[in-house]
Amino acid sequence: MHILVVNGPNLNLLGRREPEIYGTQTLADIDNELTKTFPDVRFTFFQSNHEGAIIDTLQSAMDRTYNGVVLNPGAFTHYSYAVRDAVAALPVPVIEVHLSNIHLRAESAAGEEFRRLSVIAPVCKAQVSGFGPAGYVLAVRMLLNATTETQ
Ligand code: DQA
Repeated sequence: MHILVVNGPNLNLLGRREPEIYGTQTLADIDNELTKTFPDVRFTFFQSNHEGAIIDTLQSAMDRTYNGVVLNPGAFTHYSYAVRDAVAALPVPVIEVHLSNIHLRAESAAGEEFRRLSVIAPVCKAQVSGFGPAGYVLAVRMLLNATTETQ
């Protein structure tokens, strides 16, 4: 079992970026937690602030090198049709993850209505939103289940 974990723009700043929203764990903490929780799973971790680099990495899952993908597209979630198309092309399941609850934030006083829409979610197997770092663990569990289902 080999899972690709892709994080998009500004997620390299986790731990320092708006900790009241995204918490104090760093991306390295989240990666380490996954490795520790799933000792039998091989992980490849990737983060980029650049749309093209994310698409190139997603395309590396085209030949089924990975059994599944965990993707937090950051703000690309809300407007990147290019990332959506890359996900739609993949033959393996993709789980979209958000640390924060993007739907709640759309309702909040901050008036961030743009966060309500994910253009990526309709081409994913599922969306996990609002569980903080635990969302990544849940996403991997979902992929393990999905892979068993198709065997
Ligand atoms: C995010 C939510 C997005 O709306 C935001 O642009 C991010 C992080 C999350 O993990 O909660 O960068 O994907």
